[in-house]
Amino acid sequence: MLGGPIGSGKTNSLMGSYSLKLGEAVLRSRTRNAQKSARIEADIANRIKSEFISNMSHELRTPLNTVIGFSKLLADHDRRPLPQKDIVEYAQLIQDASSNLLTIINDILDISKIQSGHFRLNWQEANLDEILESVTSQYRMLADEAGIALDLDYGERAIVIRGDAQKVRQVFGNLVGNAIKFTERGGNVVVSAREMADESIKVVIADTGVGMDMQEIDVALSPFGQVDGKRTRWREGTGLGLPIAKALIELHGGTLVIESAKGSGTTVCVTFPPPSMLEMMRHDLGLKPKRG
Ligand SMILES: Nc1ncnc2c1ncn2[C@@H]1O[C@H](COP(=O)(O)OP(=O)(O)O)[C@@H](O)[C@H]1O
Ligand SMILES: [Mg+2]
Repeated sequence: MLGGPIGSGKTNSLMGSYSLKLGEAVLRSRTRNAQKSARIEADIANRIKSEFISNMSHELRTPLNTVIGFSKLLADHDRRPLPQKDIVEYAQLIQDASSNLLTIINDILDISKIQSGHFRLNWQEANLDEILESVTSQYRMLADEAGIALDLDYGERAIVIRGDAQKVRQVFGNLVGNAIKFTERGGNVVVSAREMADESIKVVIADTGVGMDMQEIDVALSPFGQVDGKRTRWREGTGLGLPIAKALIELHGGTLVIESAKGSGTTVCVTFPPPSMLEMMRHDLGLKPKRG
């Protein structure tokens, strides 16, 4: 029978119409599934949107209320004189709240530029050890107040990277800030940086804090995603830091990977590619050829 006709004409035509019907049923079910998943996606998008609006309103309103409240007290100074030390303190509070507001607004602008592919890095040579020194000293007081040991270790040699120094600083500021924010009193945060044998640069930020499970890591990496609403609300934040950090590192040709387990701390590992690989990715990264 090999090579001969399979079945009679009648069975063939029956099979033909059966497979036609099956095809139609598959198509119908695919369309139904597509409609269903489009509906689910729209639901998720709506939920994220409303969570975003309520989070954002809170994040924007808190510093704005500070600005309005304390500037009103200052403006009333002629009628209700304030002691000199209060004037200085109120001005300081207004300054802190406004710079907090500016950070939030810049984050929103960054994420929308990144998402639309319009974000451009200001490429230059930068000393990573200096950036990490400055970030850790910025957080030293906060860590001391929170009873958390903060250590930096970058070995003996200066570590030079090619990238946008200001943005790299922003990334590590956020990662170190998170590590402190989500670690309990008595815990520790260690930042270490090394040049690897293949000339890539690896920076690890390890904390002994609350940690996250796999699903929570996914949430944390998505824009506006915060793992534990209550805890984060208490700690403040927009949930934009991590997705921006990851996107910025990827714009540098690098990677940002989070390893964590609930209750046993978090390790964020950032790598910058070796110069030879950066050279190969030059076109994709929008990096201009070196002059001279
Ligand atoms: N080191 C960490 N340990 C535990 N949870 C973390 C850590 N870093 C980030 N997270 C979780 O990921 C969420 C998102 O972080 P991020 O994007 O920086 O936003 P934000 O700091 O504004 O909350 C945090 O709200 C927190 O739930
Ligand atoms: Mg953060």
